[in-house]
Amino acid sequence: MRTVELIQKKRDGQRLSRAELEFLIDGYVRGEIPDYQMAAWAMAVFFQGMEPEETTDLTLIMASSGDTLDLSAIRGIKVDKHSTGGVADTTTLVVAPLVASTGVPVAKMSGRGLGHTGGTIDKLESIPGFRTALSPQEFISQVNSIGVSVVGQTGELAPADKLLYALRDVTATIESIPLIASSIMSKKIASGADAFVLDVKVGRGAFMKDEEKAVALARAMVQIGTLAGKTTVALVTDMNQPLGRAIGNALEVKEAILTLQGQGPERLTEVCLQLSTEMLLLAGAAATASEARVKLERNLRSGLALEKFKEWLAAQGGDPRVAEDVSLLPQAKFQADVVAPRSGYVQEIDPLALGVTAMHLGAGRETKDSLIDLAVGLELQVSAGDHVEKGGVLARIHASTQEHLGAALSEAGQAFRLGDTQPEAKPLIYRKITAEDV
Ligand code: URA
Ligand code: CA
Repeated sequence: MRTVELIQKKRDGQRLSRAELEFLIDGYVRGEIPDYQMAAWAMAVFFQGMEPEETTDLTLIMASSGDTLDLSAIRGIKVDKHSTGGVADTTTLVVAPLVASTGVPVAKMSGRGLGHTGGTIDKLESIPGFRTALSPQEFISQVNSIGVSVVGQTGELAPADKLLYALRDVTATIESIPLIASSIMSKKIASGADAFVLDVKVGRGAFMKDEEKAVALARAMVQIGTLAGKTTVALVTDMNQPLGRAIGNALEVKEAILTLQGQGPERLTEVCLQLSTEMLLLAGAAATASEARVKLERNLRSGLALEKFKEWLAAQGGDPRVAEDVSLLPQAKFQADVVAPRSGYVQEIDPLALGVTAMHLGAGRETKDSLIDLAVGLELQVSAGDHVEKGGVLARIHASTQEHLGAALSEAGQAFRLGDTQPEAKPLIYRKITAEDV
């Protein structure tokens, strides 16, 4: 096999076989195929696309390029949830204990935040004592004893994807549906679950800005999961406004606790319930969506989900008292309010602008190696559609320095658009994609 012939084949719109993709990917990981040839192949894929079976082959080859987690020692069907990344989106912190409280095991690997979107592992690290690095044995035995564990990536998962992603990033080949779908699914498959629920965000604050592209990505990922023998469903959910009201690590933990107490923001609570419903269905823990929903709502109301959250924190060394007393979480030194410059209805709240504001405050990473501040961020005091008076509070900023506070006040102010009439409510869930749809 010659690399140049494989590039040519893809350039001309033909499908590469599994053996041909293995030759390319394995050769690239070993350093035998140079960046310029891989870049040419990625650009050919960008223009020509890939067949579903071809995308699946690529995914499985990348999934097996490094460490893989074997979860077979955990009883039951292991369902993982993955979000493509949003703002004020603390769903994992709610969904993991909520689903586990119904008896469905949750063994999840999560990532750190990058850019304007947060990451579950950073949020968890704002809980005093919480350990996000467990050995695979500790991870598995914790799930077997209490039903839930969430850890940072252990070992080297899908190193082929890491290399390819870095190359795509500098060769304008990120925005290819088969390349994005295989990149995400390779990491998911390597982390060992039997089934996947995907939350594909769409809108201004999301990686996918328009519905058509988000649906195409959701379909591609469901197709890969299905062809790889893992039941996969995707919800395409709105990210044209922040999902919840808190942006920033400790602030989002506080919001997750409120939500587990049944007092969370409506849209966040609804997305958590719908994702959890899909997880229960895939795990075989409910026969219908309404049966799943009843169980989940009952566990929120009864406090069982919150109890499971505390048990989970304690098992990973975290202080479970935060669930009763959120003042035990890190607190920022300075606070101030963004106020409405006029009276009116909140038309729009730009999630991207607020995500970037939070990043500038230190809540998120501008680059992979930035240090972050777990206490800072912002808390919305209004939702789209609310009426505010002039001078009314739109958001509260939490900052570690006066300079950051001042900058964030003016930056965050730009994220709100006020108007005279009440806007129509935006949809929350656009589509559900299952194997039958692809
Ligand atoms: N996220 C990923 O993990 N991979 C991509 O290619 C794009 C977003
Ligand atoms: Ca291989």
